Amino acid sequence: MAKDLRSIVRKITELPTLPQVVTVILSLIDSPDSSAEDINKVMEKDPALVGKILKLVNSAYYGLPNKVNSVRQSIVILGFSTVKSLAISASVFDMFDSNRSRAFSREAFWGHSIGCACVSRLVGHREAGVDEETAFVVGLLHDIGKLVIDQYAPAEFDAIVNLAQEKQISFHEAEKIVLVETNHAEIGAWVGEQWALAPDLISAIRNHHSVGTVEDRPVKLLAAICRFANFICQKRNVGSSGNFNVPQLDPEAWATLSIKKDELPKMIEAINSELARTDAFFSMAMSK
Ligand SMILES: [Fe+2]
Ligand SMILES: [Fe+2]
Repeated sequence: MAKDLRSIVRKITELPTLPQVVTVILSLIDSPDSSAEDINKVMEKDPALVGKILKLVNSAYYGLPNKVNSVRQSIVILGFSTVKSLAISASVFDMFDSNRSRAFSREAFWGHSIGCACVSRLVGHREAGVDEETAFVVGLLHDIGKLVIDQYAPAEFDAIVNLAQEKQISFHEAEKIVLVETNHAEIGAWVGEQWALAPDLISAIRNHHSVGTVEDRPVKLLAAICRFANFICQKRNVGSSGNFNVPQLDPEAWATLSIKKDELPKMIEAINSELARTDAFFSMAMSK
């Protein structure tokens, strides 16, 4: 069943691309000279994207007291960084074909990804040196490589999920046997490269199953946050990402974070209320 890496890579040469407007927006947001007006002008070219972003901005997740009617206003209230993660969120749900494999539910996958994104933002908010929006995007995209495998190498994907189910192991453990030379974390990082996402974000996606090997502190923190969020979501059955193992907290990730054991109950409370407000993200993911 071992698969030659090259044949998979060949299939994956045409990774889905972000809509051009989003690419321009991301680079504008990263440039210190751009204003809310510059971003607004670009966004006006894509009313559908604006509509989606405003839907998320006005959702219970942000709990804003008054209705926000424009991207300019969203930037003023929520900041560039949040609008950036919203532009990515509003695009990513449309980029992959809908459910193909019966053993792997897209609904559950997006539930897992959105859950991880929200928990990551919450944890990122309290960890020094972490941009919570970057943590959100890492959480949202960390397993995106699985969708690439599903779409471009469906036979291998089915073999991974079936093996994981049969042996009651994680997707990652099963793909080590089926794919041998690559994995969803690395493929997810390729997607991030294709989309020209920030280097730390790409490295965190690449290392979300290998926190212990990361030396760069900001990347290690992002990867550890994602790992922790993954554990929480799996433990609480928030969606599913093709794992059939008993969830375990990665000791390397735990040691990297500053969370104290006695802070956990309060944190879980905050996580619960955060997760209860993610409907708008989820219905957007499922409306494809
Ligand atoms: Fe993963
Ligand atoms: Fe995951």
